[in-house]
Amino acid sequence: MTTSSSISLRNLGASDLKVSPLGLGTWQFSKGKRLAGIKFWPDLEKQLIQEIVKVSLRGGINWFDTAEIYGKGASEAVLADALNELGDEAKEALICTKWWPAFRRAKSINQTIDQRLEALKGRKIDLYLVHQPFSFSSANEEMNQMAQLLQEGKINHVGVSNFSEKKLREAHGALKEQGFPLVANQMKFSLLDRRIERNGVLDAAKQLGVTIIAYSPLEQGILTGKFHKNRELIKNIVGPRKYLSGFKESSLTRTQPLIDLLERLAKEYDISTSQIALNWTIHFHGETIVAIPGATKKHHAEENIGALTFRLSDKHLAEIDKVSKEVSLK
Ligand SMILES: NC(=O)c1ccc[n+]([C@@H]2O[C@H](COP(=O)([O-])OP(=O)(O)OC[C@H]3O[C@@H](n4cnc5c(N)ncnc54)[C@H](OP(=O)(O)O)[C@@H]3O)[C@@H](O)[C@H]2O)c1
Repeated sequence: MTTSSSISLRNLGASDLKVSPLGLGTWQFSKGKRLAGIKFWPDLEKQLIQEIVKVSLRGGINWFDTAEIYGKGASEAVLADALNELGDEAKEALICTKWWPAFRRAKSINQTIDQRLEALKGRKIDLYLVHQPFSFSSANEEMNQMAQLLQEGKINHVGVSNFSEKKLREAHGALKEQGFPLVANQMKFSLLDRRIERNGVLDAAKQLGVTIIAYSPLEQGILTGKFHKNRELIKNIVGPRKYLSGFKESSLTRTQPLIDLLERLAKEYDISTSQIALNWTIHFHGETIVAIPGATKKHHAEENIGALTFRLSDKHLAEIDKVSKEVSLK
């Protein structure tokens, strides 16, 4: 098994915060509660969550991504419990959480911060993100509120999520004026969704020194190849994920050549398909992109941390890039 000491950490944006190239996504820890009225994930037992967190931490993951909207604080709370239960072992574990902006004004960032800290049960907020670009206030107003929290020591670093190039530059500039770097933009990015490479977000991030945190890096499980192998699994999915375009028969046929390549390389490296997909995601663009795969089973976490233990050759990174571009869904 990998030990955390053998994983090379990366600076998050222009900060001195060191993160492992993979964090653990914990939307799956929403405890069966709904996001915008929709139930996405099954209600995972506390014991299972504890195991997923423990395996991830022991495998070298040093940070965990959660959000206010994931079960209205349920994910934050159960994550904090799992980390606290691990005692000293999880003392240095970092937390990224997110303020939910829809139908709110920027001042709610300050008004709700104590609720976030309460949900996190004494753990610090190492990174605080604006979850979406949609709010009643401008990015400038949001960053002014975030700067206040930084000054008060209630959070340690600031980022955004789902921000276009224009909004990213606006937020980055506004926070810079207050004397702080904007360190991350959390965006959807995977071998099947490469929009950030074309819409200016990735180039802007590289230019500004902002880390991209890739969410849905396994395209919600599709890149593991399990749904290509067994279509029956799609029927058993809880929630509306099964209706996403990537799960359609035509999409699975389209993306099969990529899965075939990942499986061929998995055999060559003696690892799994998901590990190849994640390794490509965290290496193809140098250190700019880190990723946060989610897990609903202990073996997902066990498998995914294995992506931290090797590096695909440049030849294989390029080969995957080529096929990915040919079949990519977005
Ligand atoms: N900022 C945002 O707007 C935003 C949006 C979405 C997500 N996120 C964050 O990003 C994280 C990850 O994104 P995501 O959950 O959408 O997608 P993902 O990480 O691409 O996919 C996670 C799902 O893939 C399957 N899986 C994972 N590892 C596996 C393995 N080794 N073998 C087989 N199946 C495996 C599991 O599906 P099953 O449960 O079906 O087995 C798991 O629930 C979230 O937890 C959340 O923290 C952020």
